[in-house]
Amino acid sequence: MNIAIVGTGYVGLVSGACFADTGASVTCVDVDTEKIERIKRGEIPIYEPGLDELVLKNVKAGRLRFTTSLESVLNDQQIVFSAVGTPPDEDGSADLKYVLQVAKTIGQHLNKYMVVVTKSTVPVGTAKLVRQTIQTELDKRQTDIKFDVASNPEFLKEGNAIKDFMSPDRVVVGVESEMAKEMLTRLYKPFLINNFRVIFMDIPSAEMTKYAANSMLATRISFMNDIANLCERVGADVNMVRAGIGSDTRIGRKFLYAGCGYGGSCFPKDVKALIKTADGMGYSMEVLKAVERVNDAQKHVVFNKLAIAFAKEGLENKTVALWGLSFKPETDDMRESTALVTIDLLKQAGCKIKVYDPVAMTECKRRIGDTVIYARDLYDAVNDADALLLLTEWNEFRLPNWEIVSKVMNKKLLIDGRNIFEKKELESYGFEYHSIGR
Ligand code: UDX
Ligand code: UDX
Repeated sequence: MNIAIVGTGYVGLVSGACFADTGASVTCVDVDTEKIERIKRGEIPIYEPGLDELVLKNVKAGRLRFTTSLESVLNDQQIVFSAVGTPPDEDGSADLKYVLQVAKTIGQHLNKYMVVVTKSTVPVGTAKLVRQTIQTELDKRQTDIKFDVASNPEFLKEGNAIKDFMSPDRVVVGVESEMAKEMLTRLYKPFLINNFRVIFMDIPSAEMTKYAANSMLATRISFMNDIANLCERVGADVNMVRAGIGSDTRIGRKFLYAGCGYGGSCFPKDVKALIKTADGMGYSMEVLKAVERVNDAQKHVVFNKLAIAFAKEGLENKTVALWGLSFKPETDDMRESTALVTIDLLKQAGCKIKVYDPVAMTECKRRIGDTVIYARDLYDAVNDADALLLLTEWNEFRLPNWEIVSKVMNKKLLIDGRNIFEKKELESYGFEYHSIGR
């Protein structure tokens, strides 16, 4: 099967490599010439476990190739996926200019039947716009070519994307023709051999499913953060509460971890976009508006705890160490990360900031340059520090040598934004320890 994937970002590259690994012939397309040249040299632009090997292996096998020109490869394809970015507009709605640009190019060059699938997260109604855009271009050329549009949202978690792609909980596909349904069934069959879970539906429902799924997960997190903040005030432990409610099968255990707020490229953007879509329809998403407010506030919680601990002496000129910069472990992605919010607050308070992250240091430098000190490792970061803030729960932070940490720190204060440490243990080393909701 010949497929093209337009947009070689996080989603496009993972999807392309995984499809190729099942034997499909895949062409990845991107307008960014430098990115394509780098990938061709074997340099993978993002950090994602297993992706380097998968790309290399399939390039070698001749099933995966890269180009900057969609028009030159378009008519060799049976299915074209669009996985270009949909960054939030200034008002929070998803910006569709890239998605529609791809549709326009397809319309200008299409010579045969094809299924055009949108993988980017796009508001309900976008598939219709994609169809119209392609049709308008075909009409201009006075050509009558049949094509189908479809919607196939992705549910990949960064850091676990290949596993998520290779053995998905489900694949959601919105279609409006039997032909498109058949072709997408064939394409996805290899991933779902044991338990075929492609859920076919109409296109608007598929588009909506993506937003509803991410919004639901974001809601669980904000709800737990709200509960955590209350736990602190009434003397309860949110970890106990999580165990208590998560064992109810109606609730389930996942995505109930209180912490210093959710970040990433999806939750913040998708929650905003859904609120915006609803507003545009004259309907107000009250729950989601609260979810967003709670999350914005939660990104300040670690800093606020620090400020309270230094209420008497003040924070000016204090050295603060940060463990973790990425929005979650196993990625170098810092989009909407709590670390960026915290760094800003610390700067405003006049602190000296030392940071360490196992993979996101380069990304951090790219974003904020030398406005913070980049430590060699986790121990270097805490050397002479007046406080340590844990913001991302990387595995290597879970069992540090507290003997060393407590010796080199100037003041033994630890604020654990992800609840990975135990108060008793930390106190035995003389630390003042704070966490979220415990
Ligand atoms: C993107 C969307 O932002 C998200 O909504 C969706 O769920 C999945 O696809 P991601 O892969 O993380 O997420 O985006 P990004 O890393 O920004 O990659 C988009 C790629 O598309 C970039 O490499 C960009 O150069 C490319 N692009 C953009 C094109 O090839 N053509 C364009 O016209 C615009
Ligand atoms: C998410 C969705 O999980 C995925 O299905 C979708 O396609 C894209 O968006 P991702 O953004 O990669 O994936 O990360 P995810 O693991 O969902 O975490 C998002 C944020 O929520 C992180 O900042 C994480 O720290 C936070 N989180 C997650 C919590 O605070 N508590 C939890 O219990 C789970």
